[in-house]
Amino acid sequence: MGNLNALTTAIRDLNDEMTRSLAGVGDTATLEAFRVEYLGRKGRVSQLFKTLGDIPAEDKSEAGRLLNELRDGITHAFEERSGGIEARALDAQLLRESVDVTMPGVSRAVGHLHPLTQVQREIEAIFQRMGFDVATGPEIETEYYNFEALNIPADHPARADWDTFYISDTTLLRPHTSPVQVHVMESASPPVRIICPGRCYRRDAQDATHSPVFHQIELLWVEEGLSLAHLKHVLELFTREFFGEGYEMRFSGDFFPFTEPSVQVHIKAPGATRWLEIMGAGMVDPAVLTNVGYDPEQVTGFAFGLGIERMAMLKYGIDDIRAFLTNDLRFIRQF
Ligand code: DAH
Repeated sequence: MGNLNALTTAIRDLNDEMTRSLAGVGDTATLEAFRVEYLGRKGRVSQLFKTLGDIPAEDKSEAGRLLNELRDGITHAFEERSGGIEARALDAQLLRESVDVTMPGVSRAVGHLHPLTQVQREIEAIFQRMGFDVATGPEIETEYYNFEALNIPADHPARADWDTFYISDTTLLRPHTSPVQVHVMESASPPVRIICPGRCYRRDAQDATHSPVFHQIELLWVEEGLSLAHLKHVLELFTREFFGEGYEMRFSGDFFPFTEPSVQVHIKAPGATRWLEIMGAGMVDPAVLTNVGYDPEQVTGFAFGLGIERMAMLKYGIDDIRAFLTNDLRFIRQF
C-alpha cells in the first residue's frame, strides 16, 4: 500500500463492506460476530490502522483522520443496530411472557379434611375448653414406656392384651397411647392435665371392626384430691358435647394394670336399648405414679383411652372401619 490514495480506497471499500454486512445482521449472535471481525482488537479496522506506519509523513495526519472517521462511523452504526436488536428482543420477550388477565382462571380441586381428623380435632377442642393441653409422644416406643412404667412387668399375662408389633427385642410400635402418660409425667410435675391423640398399631387382622393401624386419644389428669367422681363428671360433659343431649353414660368394672379401679365406659343413645362401649378408664394406679417419681400419697389422677375410629363410627353410623382407609372421596365427602 504505502500511499494515501491506496489507503483512501481501502477505507472506502471496507466501509462499504461493513455497511452491507451490518445491514444483514439480525440477532445478537451475528451482531457479536460482526463486532469481533471488524471492530475487535485484531479486527479489520485495527489491521488498517497498522498500515499508518507506511504512509509518508506529510500525509499521516490526513490518513489518521480518515481512519478515525471510518472507525467512529462504523462504531456509531454498530451501536444503533445493536440498540435496535436489543429492543426487538425485549419486545419479543415481553410478548412471550405477557399474561392475558381476561382469561378464565384455572380452578384447583380443594381438599377435604378426613373424617378422622375432624373427629380428632373436635374431641381435642372439647377437652381444650375444659383446660387440657394437647401432648404427643413417639409411635416407636420402648418396652419400658409401653409396659413396665405402666405397671405391666415382663412375663405378666396382661402383655398379651396388646398384640404388639415388635421392631427389636425392646422396641415396638405402640399399641396404645398410654405410654405418652409416662413421658408427660416424667417431664412435668403435677398438676398435669393433658390429652394425647395419636396413631397406634396392633397385630390385628383387618375386618369391619379391626385395623392394624388406628388412632387413640389418651387423657390424663393428675392433681391433689381427684376422685372417680371427677372422672365421671368430665366424661358426662364430654358425652353431652360430643354425642349430644339425651345420651346416657355408665361405668362398668374392668381391669387395666395401670388403673385402680378400672372401668369401662358405655353410652346409650336416646331411645336405644343397647349400651355401647366407648373407652377404658380409671384412677391412675399408685405404682404408675411412683414409677414417674410422683408421690401417690400427695396426688391422685385419672386417665382414659378411646379409639377415634370407634367414636367416629358411633357418631356417624359408619359400619366398617376399612372405609377410613380406602380414600374413597364419595365416602370422605359425606363428612
Ligand atoms: N390403653 C388402653 C387400651 O389401649 C386404654 C386405656 C384404658 C387407657 C384405661 C387408659 C385407661 O388411660 O386409664 O386398651
